[in-house]
Parts: sequence; structure tokens; C-alpha cells
Amino acid sequence: MTMNRKRIEILDKMSADADKLAPEDKLFTYKGILYPLAICKLENFQALETFDARTDDVILAGYPKTGTNWLETMLRDLEFRAGKYTEEEYKRRMAIEEELAVPPRLEFGDLDAIKRMTKLPSRRIIVTHLPPLLLPKSIFKNKAKILALTRNPKDTMVSYFHFSNNFSAFPNATWDAYFRDFMNGKVCWGSYFDHVSEWDKYIDDENVMGICYEELKEHPNLGLQKIAKFFGFSVNEEEIKSVVENCSFKAMKQKSTETHGAFGDALFRKGSVGDWKSLFSESQNQEMDRRFKECLAKSKLGAKMKYEVYCKS
Ligand code: A3P
Repeated sequence: MTMNRKRIEILDKMSADADKLAPEDKLFTYKGILYPLAICKLENFQALETFDARTDDVILAGYPKTGTNWLETMLRDLEFRAGKYTEEEYKRRMAIEEELAVPPRLEFGDLDAIKRMTKLPSRRIIVTHLPPLLLPKSIFKNKAKILALTRNPKDTMVSYFHFSNNFSAFPNATWDAYFRDFMNGKVCWGSYFDHVSEWDKYIDDENVMGICYEELKEHPNLGLQKIAKFFGFSVNEEEIKSVVENCSFKAMKQKSTETHGAFGDALFRKGSVGDWKSLFSESQNQEMDRRFKECLAKSKLGAKMKYEVYCKS
């Protein structure tokens, strides 16, 4: 599969715009949630209301740092294989995507992006970090299928901390300050706990499927089979195996400069479960354990993460 040069240019521009912002101007608030100004614009949220979802859209919704780039690449690969495109068709599709310069996440980018997305051929793979209440209504109305991605809160926080300190769109912070902000929902895209709880309310809808990072690390082939079945991607076992191999952490990291430009290194960092042990203090551990128990332990998405296995020292 070819990568999309335009997306790298978009990411580079965000980075250049972020470098020009003073630390106190980097963030803005929309409906009580923080967003990075170099990546999202307030007007984009209004433009989202005009987004016209298609029934066959493939929506991936995950809080930042839960593995959205990994899942997106797997979904694109599944779509490509299931589409059985001729070389010519594939090149044409790529050229359209390139020309439209669609930003990597639904809520990123310029004001006109939503309009340009109407010209993308089906099936569109659309990725977002937004909670269900901020998504365009047409996604639910037109019954587009949604994959709700989660990752355990400790690894998500550690991954987000490193990424924020490596990307000028976010404010820099020490680990202790970042821990406090994350626990209070004072990070971009808001509270992790609210995000997972909100998606959990939709988890029994027939058009929503929950998946978690840890289960894909444990059983990638099985996880992908379930995803392919949910979206109706007709692929055989050999193809699933190839997607898993192409999208292994090692393979994606190796190609990361080609696929994500200067961001590659920061995006494909460790790709493991349990890196939280490198930063969490004992009291931070206990605080997170209490919060998980209070907010998510009884939820279906919370249960999927196997918190007792992966998040206890
Ligand atoms: P770490 O920072 O813990 O390494 P997102 O894509 O939503 O920004 O999430 C980034 C996280 O997903 C990073 O976690 C990254 O390394 C991990 N990741 C990316 N590609 C992966 C892959 N192929 N397999 C496993 N993890 C991957």
C-alpha cells in the first residue's frame, strides 16, 4: 500500500504552526474540553455538524494514544484487500485521496475538509478522538459502523505524556504535573475516564464494536477476524495473517518516517503493554487503581482491558 504524502505535509504544517504559538496560546476549550489550537480549530466543530456519514463508512473512535494509528493502518489494509481493486483502480483512489488532502482525524485541519470528504470514494476510513456526543449526528442516523478503541489508562497516560513532550502542539509538563492533569481531565480531548464511560453507553448498539489495544496485542489474528466480520470485510485467514504482519509494531516503526514523516519516531515509541511501570509511583498507582474501580471496573469496555492482569504491579 502506498502512503499519502499530503498527510505528512499536513502533520508538518501543524508542527510548524505549533512552534509559532506561545505556551499560553497553545490550547483552547470547546464544550469544556481542551484541544490543541495548531491541530483543531473551533470552527471545525461547527463544520462537523454538516458532515454527511455514509452507511458503509468505517469509523474508528479512540482516545489519543490508544493505538489509533495502528488500527487505522489495519483497517486500511483490510479495506484494500477486501476491495480487490485492480492496480489502476487503486492508483486512482490514492490519487483522489492525495488531491483532497483529507486530514488524518475527523476533527483536525482546515474548515473545508468536511466538504472535500464528500468526494472520497467508499469505503471511507474515518478516524476520530471524539466522544460520541461530539460526533456528527449523521454517523448514528445513517448507521455507520463504529469501532470504539480503548487502552488501559496507565499505558495511555504514559504514552500521552511522552507524545505531549515531543510535539510542540501540546504544552510540556513534568510527569507529576501531567499525572495530575490527566486525572483531572485537563489534557487535550478531555477526560480519559469520561471518554471510555461515554463510549461504554453505546457498546450494545449493533453498529458499535468495542476493541482494546491489549486484546489485539494478545491475539491479533483473532481480533482482526472479529473486526473484519463486524465491518463485513471479506478476507481469508492468509490475508488476515498478512495484515497482522504488515502492521506489527516492528514493521510499522521501520516504515514510520515514510508513512508519518518527522512524527514517526514519537508516534511509534514502544508499542508494548506495561510501560506504565517506568513512571508510576506507588501512590499514583493506588490513585489510578481507585479511580478505575470507581469509574470503569463495572463497564464492558473496562472489563475488556483486563486491568487486574495488565495494571497491577
Ligand atoms: P507507546 O507510546 O506506548 O509506544 P496513537 O496511534 O493513538 O497515537 O497511539 C500511539 C501508541 O500506539 C504508541 O504507544 C505506539 O507505539 C503504539 N503503536 C503504534 N503502532 C503500533 C503497533 N503496530 N503495534 C503496537 N502498538 C503500536
